[in-house]
Amino acid sequence: MSVIVVEGGHSLEGTIRVHGAKNAVLPILAATVLSGGKSDVENCPALRDVAATVRILEHLGCSVRREGATISVDSSAMQRSDIPECLMREMRSSVIFLGAILARFGTASVAMPGGCELGPRPIDLHLSAFAQMGVNIREAHGIIHCECPKLHGAAIHLAFPSVGATENVMLAASLAEGTTVITNAAKEPEIEDLQIYLNRMGARVQGAGSDTIRIDGVSRLYGAPHRVIPDRIVAATYMACSAVTGGTVELTDVCPKHLEAIMAVAREYGAELIVEENRIIHRAPQRLRAVKMIRTMPYPGFPTDAQAPMMAALCYADGTGIFTETIFENRFKHVTELTRMGADITVEGRIAVVRGVPQLGGANMCAMELRGGAALVVAALGAQGVSRIGRVHFIERGYENLTEALSGLGAKIRKETEDEQREKKTHIVCP
Ligand code: UD1
Repeated sequence: MSVIVVEGGHSLEGTIRVHGAKNAVLPILAATVLSGGKSDVENCPALRDVAATVRILEHLGCSVRREGATISVDSSAMQRSDIPECLMREMRSSVIFLGAILARFGTASVAMPGGCELGPRPIDLHLSAFAQMGVNIREAHGIIHCECPKLHGAAIHLAFPSVGATENVMLAASLAEGTTVITNAAKEPEIEDLQIYLNRMGARVQGAGSDTIRIDGVSRLYGAPHRVIPDRIVAATYMACSAVTGGTVELTDVCPKHLEAIMAVAREYGAELIVEENRIIHRAPQRLRAVKMIRTMPYPGFPTDAQAPMMAALCYADGTGIFTETIFENRFKHVTELTRMGADITVEGRIAVVRGVPQLGGANMCAMELRGGAALVVAALGAQGVSRIGRVHFIERGYENLTEALSGLGAKIRKETEDEQREKKTHIVCP
């Protein structure tokens, strides 16, 4: 497998376009199956998770075509209502197809998503919401079978504002009989984007972005065009890259409104930000100031997905800061790798204390999951010497052409193929 090789210490300067949001594209592509028509979805990044979603659509019988950043899905010939284990395992968020397939066919079977790298990620909220909408759910041999000849609306209160459960209910409820009201719904911008697309298809959804979403079911939906919102986590990661290298980076195609919590942290660590309608200029200070407290929270709080990249940047800060991870149990796997570079971090349960050091040194590291992997790249960009990062496939789940994009800003970063590693005897052993 390829590794990413980074020679740190080069200041980043220039402009970078932020690609479409992974977490918006996935539910929108799942929603295309509701229509039985053709949808053109623009601004789809070329990511492993998007490719996995396309494979599921093709398995279901949809015809899918990609031209540049536009994915066209025609779901008129869709005949299958199952997703086998091999496809479910590629990407846990494929559970989002459950609501869409159920709404279209009244029946769906998907393999249990299983455990994952961020700790247990149950789907109880999804299933209990479906049960309230009249779905019979049976689990056997790792497969969840859902049957419902007629989905009906329901008043659904989510015990936690789960992003995936909110989206799954929105998909199912769009074609259900009657009205569904979700309370304590997730408020993430990706939920609003899904609402916009569903309404373009003829659905009647309102309230996304607030904690109450109302869906009046309709009898059919139609294919529709849509342009996906920019990826706020990718934007946050590039800000962190700029922060550790002391450069000035302009991010274009961003939605600053979605980045308030990130920008608040950036200002606290001393960045100068120029914010316009869809662009942000991030000018890093000479040395970052410590950010006393970062607590991950559902939107509009600080996103859990930006925790690792921001921690990597703050390893270089002057002073001590505390990160509290409230969303996922096991989201500090990057810490062990960062300490290989000389970072001074102590973890106790869901709390990480980061004591900033003036300099980190290059090291061999392994990405353990998507955002934690990106964090290693951030730290390596600021470090003295060369770092090598293995298990790059995790990073490619959520970042399009990361090495090319950063090279364009002046970073010394490249991918090394397996053959090159063999030749130079530079293999990294990852667990
Ligand atoms: C989505 C994002 C992911 C992000 C996360 C939180 C996508 C494709 N992924 O994941 O990048 O990190 O939101 O912002 O959009 N939970 C339950 N029961 C459930 C569902 C969730 O207990 O039925 C718990 C989870 O274990 C977790 C928390 O709720 O602790 C948040 O999960 P959720 O908001 O559902 O995240 P995802 O939709 O999986």
